[in-house]
Amino acid sequence: MSHPDRFLLAGVMGWPVMHSRSPRLHNYWLDKYGLVGAYVPLAIEAQGLRAALRALPALGFSGCNLTIPHKEAAFEIVDEVDLPARRIGAINCVVVRPDGSLFGRNHDGWGYIESIIEAAPGWRADAGPIVVVGAGGGARAVVVGLADRGAREIRIVNRTLERAREFERTIGGPVRALDWASRADALDGAAMLVNTTSQGMVGQPTLDISLDRLPTTALVSDIIYIPKETPLLAAARARGNRTVNGLGMLLNQARPAFRDWFGVMPEVTPELRAMIEATI
Ligand SMILES: NC(=O)c1ccc[n+]([C@@H]2O[C@H](COP(=O)([O-])OP(=O)(O)OC[C@H]3O[C@@H](n4cnc5c(N)ncnc54)[C@H](OP(=O)(O)O)[C@@H]3O)[C@@H](O)[C@H]2O)c1
Repeated sequence: MSHPDRFLLAGVMGWPVMHSRSPRLHNYWLDKYGLVGAYVPLAIEAQGLRAALRALPALGFSGCNLTIPHKEAAFEIVDEVDLPARRIGAINCVVVRPDGSLFGRNHDGWGYIESIIEAAPGWRADAGPIVVVGAGGGARAVVVGLADRGAREIRIVNRTLERAREFERTIGGPVRALDWASRADALDGAAMLVNTTSQGMVGQPTLDISLDRLPTTALVSDIIYIPKETPLLAAARARGNRTVNGLGMLLNQARPAFRDWFGVMPEVTPELRAMIEATI
């Protein structure tokens, strides 16, 4: 919890970072909860990351977020990391502790699960097989989140099979790697489909997958939020599947970070969601 007389300060380190929506989010909450402080974008190149992180205590920062490409490198720099971060292998949040040491956390998996529960109350991770397309950084947070929430079978299909196999080896439990050619068949009997690839993002081609085998009862989620509805989500909605985009993940991962730095667990209000949507 911050000292009441202190000007509260946190930021996001990335390169580039000016497109980040985190300053709008956190500054909205600082204002809403009547806290005096600021959340600022910090354009930090890879070679300056260690010095920038180590300077946080002296600069009076409560902590910071990290964007790509710093999430893995920062993991190696901080003094201690939490369990989800260890399982994901990356951090998206640093908390400056009272003794000046740096605690690395990863709230992406938690934010993903919250976004699904928010959009589909009653959703359960153990309702049936879950197909995750992609095996990059975003996928790791989603898969760890789903596994920790009790998923019993997670089928990972990725263009590069070896990366999916790496998930199987390192996350283990319910994770099974399947090859890219079997992606349409992998949808058979699935309760949920998640796209974690960059395919379908603005400026990128549509994700190449046939939904014919996917039950119409399945929940379809895409962690992309630009555009708000990817071609995959539009196709899923047209055939009757319930859909969830990636905006909720972005908004919800920020909540525990704000709590870690400023001592208040903030809410994602319709006003906040609309404000961020207006920037897309
Ligand atoms: N909502 C949120 O808060 C949130 C958080 C994180 C990420 N995201 C979004 O998630 C997406 C992925 O981000 P990331 O950080 O996970 O990226 P990443 O680590 O670079 O991974 C990219 C993934 O996309 C796959 N891919 C790329 N081009 C492909 C193609 N032509 N065909 C099939 N698969 C392809 C890659 O497969 P290979 O392994 O074969 O290369 C890999 O699985 C981005 O759109 C990002 O904005 C959203």
